[in-house]
Amino acid sequence: MGLLIRQGEIITADTRLRADIYAEGETITEIGENLRAPAGTEVIDAAGKLVFPGFIDPHVHIYLPFMGTYAKDTHETGSKAALMGGTTTFIEMCCPAGSEDALEGYRLWKRKAEGSAACDYAFHMGVTRFGEETEGQLREIVADGTSSFKVFLAYKGAFGIDDEALFKTLQLAKELGVIVTAHTENAELVAQLQRKLLSEGKTGPEWHEPSRPEYVEADGVHHFATFLEATGARGYVVHLSCELALQAALAARARGVDLAVESVIPHLLLDKSYAERPEVEGAKYVMSPPLRDKRNQRVLWEALKRGDIQTIGTDHAPFDTAQKAMGSGDFTKIPNGIPAIEDRVKLLYTYGVSRGELDVHRFVDAASTQAAKLFGLFPRKGTIEVGSDADLVVYDPDYRGTLSAKTQHMNVDYSGFEGFEIDGRPEVVTLRGEVMVREGRFVGTPGRGVFLRREGAV
Ligand code: URP
Ligand code: ZN
Ligand code: ZN
Ligand code: ZN
Repeated sequence: MGLLIRQGEIITADTRLRADIYAEGETITEIGENLRAPAGTEVIDAAGKLVFPGFIDPHVHIYLPFMGTYAKDTHETGSKAALMGGTTTFIEMCCPAGSEDALEGYRLWKRKAEGSAACDYAFHMGVTRFGEETEGQLREIVADGTSSFKVFLAYKGAFGIDDEALFKTLQLAKELGVIVTAHTENAELVAQLQRKLLSEGKTGPEWHEPSRPEYVEADGVHHFATFLEATGARGYVVHLSCELALQAALAARARGVDLAVESVIPHLLLDKSYAERPEVEGAKYVMSPPLRDKRNQRVLWEALKRGDIQTIGTDHAPFDTAQKAMGSGDFTKIPNGIPAIEDRVKLLYTYGVSRGELDVHRFVDAASTQAAKLFGLFPRKGTIEVGSDADLVVYDPDYRGTLSAKTQHMNVDYSGFEGFEIDGRPEVVTLRGEVMVREGRFVGTPGRGVFLRREGAV
């Protein structure tokens, strides 16, 4: 059956055009004026609406065993929430622990997603140890179409790797043409500062940020960039949160290091005062790198506008109130993470485009196109062209609402953005030609998402 989206304002990272879009099966086959609708075509009137390419979240956690518990979403709930928010593809961090086998972990993550995810998905393969066996397995995983790695310089004793493993991972990545994404905080400094603060009786969530100050993140960025320089590998810093870390990234880039930067929606809109709320209310806002002093938000927005920050993801990692309470009396035991997979696009549109902070093309670029280009999905994803997947978001810019845990689809009992105003929402969302969301309601086939085999970047 065909799909015809009529008379929308089509907006990509670099074009704007009022036209119809026709998809035959899963693929866009025509873009133009007054396109014919063969019998049986599903016709969607998009007059007065914006039509964006399906959004891509380059950094999510769905299945996540972490800090003695598991993140709350399943692939079923997380992918529905993603689609409701206009995200048609996510790239999930596949994170086996350092004590676990990489290939077994990879197969486990794939099994969890297959037949459960309603949106399309790919993985960044977490490298949490490195030896001869792991190297062979990583080659196999890349050959399977997972062409990006993830390393953690933080989380000593869990996901974190040492410098030898980092060097060897980057060498392999260079050889295979694989981009390496990195959580960049100095793990030893975090461990030492945590110990010091706890010994001083500083146990509440407000001490999480001081245990991982801005210079600890900047050191991580510098360290990662130095290893990229030594190996010639391509890198991508995830969830960059502050000015000092940005300066380290830009300095590396200025001396020729191939380094892209992602920030995530919590760091753009929330500051550390949220984590200073008492007890579990503060714990809900504990993530790493931490929410920062508010002045950093302006710096991130400006860098995003300039394109010095390439992508905006979520780092979706949902833990509910009871899980957050596991860290009562010891902030180092609070499961780290803030849910946002459903909210990212609406928040970036509202506080970026609608409030005059961000050009609408840069918005599409940061929330979709750049991720597609960096991670080998372009032009199948990330744009609206003949031949691209018919992943489309018909966005109603006139809708007005507020975010709330009461109305969200993420499987978690709070919203980090409770009460935030929203300008506009995805009214219709299609995935490979099928309508998945209509008038803000999920109407798609559960489990319809497919694993996206990827090659290198374009
Ligand atoms: O706090 C965070 N970021 N939780 C998820 C794990 C990670 O570091 O990305
Ligand atoms: Zn991280
Ligand atoms: Zn260093
Ligand atoms: Zn993450």
